[in-house]
Amino acid sequence: MSVLNGKKILLGVSGGIAAYKTASLVRLFIKAGAHVQVIMTPASKDFVTPLTLSTLSKNPVHSSFFNEDDQDAVWNNHVDLALWADFMLVAPATANTLSKMATGNCDNLLIATYLSAKCPVYFAPAMDLDMYKHPSTLSSFTALKQFGNIMIPAESGELASGLSGEGRMAEPENIVAFLEADLESKLPLVGKKILITAGPTYEAIDPVRFIGNHSSGKMGFDIANEAAKLGAQVILIAGPTHFKTKNNSIEVVNVVSAQDMYDACHLHYNDVDVAIAAAAVADYRPKVVATQKIKKTAEEFSIELEKTKDILASLGGIKKNQFLIGFALETQNEIENAKLKIQKKNLDLIVLNSLQDEGAGFKKETNKVTFIDKDFKIEPMELKSKESVAVDILNKVILHFTK
Ligand code: CTP
Repeated sequence: MSVLNGKKILLGVSGGIAAYKTASLVRLFIKAGAHVQVIMTPASKDFVTPLTLSTLSKNPVHSSFFNEDDQDAVWNNHVDLALWADFMLVAPATANTLSKMATGNCDNLLIATYLSAKCPVYFAPAMDLDMYKHPSTLSSFTALKQFGNIMIPAESGELASGLSGEGRMAEPENIVAFLEADLESKLPLVGKKILITAGPTYEAIDPVRFIGNHSSGKMGFDIANEAAKLGAQVILIAGPTHFKTKNNSIEVVNVVSAQDMYDACHLHYNDVDVAIAAAAVADYRPKVVATQKIKKTAEEFSIELEKTKDILASLGGIKKNQFLIGFALETQNEIENAKLKIQKKNLDLIVLNSLQDEGAGFKKETNKVTFIDKDFKIEPMELKSKESVAVDILNKVILHFTK
């Protein structure tokens, strides 16, 4: 999934021939799942029509301080537009527009919006080769970079003048790749490796039967998807579940039993910065697994069980620098039991689920959790979707690394 998915992009189009390429650019943004609003300078409308960009962006295009076609002359609020955006991109950015951005010469809606923008601003220059090298243009670049704006350098090639050289606006695909790389490099969990366990485990009784539990795996998959979105390298060790990850950067290791999960976790644990144990691991397994299907001959039948290894406790036991998060599912004396688990399993944080809370637990879309850290600071959270709980958990991880 592109990092642009869900992003709100404000595209400022100024009046150069490269403006026609913004049709492809908007299409690529929409394809990546972004929301796009377009502001055009009056001159840019000679190169690409507002109708084209409005159709492709699925939004009205803004180009003046009030809507000319509207008899009631509704004011286009440039402050709202600027605040709406996650980032602004000026493409093509002509020498004229760059100079106005650099000096604050606010004579159109695009510049007014630019001056109101608190979000990151990118600009993709487009002009003829001599204009691109002119000291005046270079001083605009310098000023804008000093303001913190990010330049997407022009490319070399044939120019509208017939000359060949540097000055062509970067191709739409390259602008998208530049933005994706830049946004990804700034994600809060970039460079962090996170191991996550999810789902139930199945403990075989015979070749056709097993002991399992009702865990769907949703909580662990939501954490994995969210962590990948935040830039982490994710290894997801998943018990049997129908869930699929939403990000193909996630390395999924499918396991069945508690022992498989234990082995897979220990294979990766040394290299990770964070481990989050969201799996509902079976605590017991049949002591002997029948090699053939057990026939129903006896009137009564019992299975001798033995304890499985506690994966989380084993990870806590060999913990070096890993930030270790466990879950606790309790039905009584919740806080006290969770605190005991923090100590017993050497955790940094525990996510407590109480089955007494409405909306919490297995096979639900929602969860109501309480965070308890290793200093026993207790933080009860609201009932929310499992996706939002995943975000909360990862905020704790981010906080740990920014402390
Ligand atoms: N866990 C684990 N390996 C096990 C059992 C549990 O890694 N064999 C992990 C779970 O993934 C969870 C945490 O331990 O993060 C707590 O699980 P929970 O079922 O609440 O507690 P248990 O330790 O199994 O203790 P009890 O069932 O007695 O409450």
